[in-house]
Order: sequence, then structure tokens, then C-alpha cells
Amino acid sequence: MLSLNCPELDAYHKECDDLLVSFDYTHFTDSFSALIKHTKEHFAHEEGIMQEFNFQGYFEHFEEHQKILGEMSQFLAMALQGNTLFAKNYIKNGVGERLDIHIRNIDSQLAMFLKNRA
Ligand SMILES: [Fe+2]
Ligand SMILES: [Fe+2]
Repeated sequence: MLSLNCPELDAYHKECDDLLVSFDYTHFTDSFSALIKHTKEHFAHEEGIMQEFNFQGYFEHFEEHQKILGEMSQFLAMALQGNTLFAKNYIKNGVGERLDIHIRNIDSQLAMFLKNRA
């Protein structure tokens, strides 16, 4: 993931990278669940910061988080029903880029806001 040079945000992004790099396809739904759990914490952390500082772009950012989590949950649900093909493809080729785009376009605005306040 892109580094924003903002330690408050970068820590979760680095952990997310690590989870994707070490993703265990032999225990697919467990690894996927762990990724979702981590993403929920990651997003809740950012939402907490935005609320704390009354960040203007809160709602847009929150909605984007909800969209990504919804998408991840749908693919996990498919995998739990035994349809792992699309879910595996999503982990291999979809979710990393999806999160990276979010970091570039949305988290970057929050990082800039935090830097300007400091
Ligand atoms: Fe983030
Ligand atoms: Fe975010």
C-alpha cells in the first residue's frame, strides 16, 4: 500500500499489506475472515480520528469504508457457501488494488488534514 507519511494511518496499511502477503490459501475462509476483522479495525480507527477532529469529509469516507466492507463480506459469504473461485480471484487481484485506491484518493485527504493540524 502507498505510504502517506502519516504514522496514525500508515500502521494499519502496513499490517494490511502483511496480511495480504502472508495470505494462507489453504485456510482460505479463516485468512479472509482475519483480513475482514483487521479491515474493520483499520476503518474504525480512521472513523474515530475523523470524529475526534470533526473532519469535514467524514461521511464520504465512512460510506466508502462501508462499500469496501460490504464487498469483502459478499465474497466471504460466497466462499463460505463453497464458491471459492471468485473469492480467491478477489483476494489475488481485487482487494489490494481496491484498498490502495482508497488510500490514494480518500485516506490521503485525511493524512493531509492531520499534517496541517500538527
Ligand atoms: Fe486506511
Ligand atoms: Fe479510509
